[in-house]
Amino acid sequence: MTEAKAPYQRGGSAEDASFKEAGLRFEVDGEIATITLDRPEKRNAQTFATWSALARIGDSLPEQVRVVVVTGEGPSFSAGIDLRMFTPEGVPGQGSFGSAARQDQDSFDQSIERAQQGFLWLRRPEIVSIAAVRGHAIGAGFQLALACDLRIVADDVKFCMKEPALGLVPDLTGTKPLVDLVGLAKATDLCLTARVVEADEAFRIGLAEMVVDGEGLAKAVQDKVEQVLSTNRDAATATKRLLQGARLRTLEEQCAAERAEQAVRIRTLFAGS
Ligand code: CAA
Repeated sequence: MTEAKAPYQRGGSAEDASFKEAGLRFEVDGEIATITLDRPEKRNAQTFATWSALARIGDSLPEQVRVVVVTGEGPSFSAGIDLRMFTPEGVPGQGSFGSAARQDQDSFDQSIERAQQGFLWLRRPEIVSIAAVRGHAIGAGFQLALACDLRIVADDVKFCMKEPALGLVPDLTGTKPLVDLVGLAKATDLCLTARVVEADEAFRIGLAEMVVDGEGLAKAVQDKVEQVLSTNRDAATATKRLLQGARLRTLEEQCAAERAEQAVRIRTLFAGS
């Protein structure tokens, strides 16, 4: 095992076991971390335990990690929230929508906020997150793909924001990146019809950066990881910060932000020369 994996050796098999229970695997290899949704027999359905495990990964991501790949085992990236949440029995140990409905507003808010933390960290400037998506990415599955910076998809991909069809709203951080990526009208169309978006359309409207055949997905992701790792780490972080802030700033403010970031880069690189 490499030194890079050390932070996870401390938790050791207990942490591994809790990830397994949450339906995912987490591996670190040097600068690359891979999160694999790993309940293929249930199409990688997600539970609160999945989101809490994702949040814990984000909380303790080893500092050397620059790229996080999020993928799913089996034919589907993820079929979204575990449908047992809709039953009176719920998911053992995690409750149901029925029990959530009985929570007071603060507790309810906190539990959704914690779930959202599982998705939010994937946008940190210090990392580039890549969703490798094959098959269905429904509801929470679609939102997890949207939480990543880039989506590389297989040609059998099927994105669907199913929540409104089930009486819910998408609440796992997906609405903003969706609108940012495809625009308000298209996002309204996709969400309020809960229709399926397949590969060609996903590429055309900007949901996917690249479409490859299923066999080529792992290689395409690996190539992208290598491209990302070929740039300077600190410059990449600063550039991502600039890009993320661009929509919120005026042109003048953005120019000022570019100058400030560049001053740090140039002083760091050339101070002694
Ligand atoms: N939760 C729990 N189990 C699920 C599941 C889910 N979301 N999706 C699939 N499964 C299970 C099936 O019950 C089945 O289990 P058994 O073999 O024990 O019967 C197994 O996974 C395989 O499923 P299928 O036979 O249906 O597989 P398929 O390849 O023919 O179809 C699918 C795949 C289109 C994804 C279909 O399973 C499906 O429509 N699943 C439900 C999708 C859904 O409605 N998800 C909720 C989205 S909304 C959301 O996510 C809300 C939120 O964030 C708040």
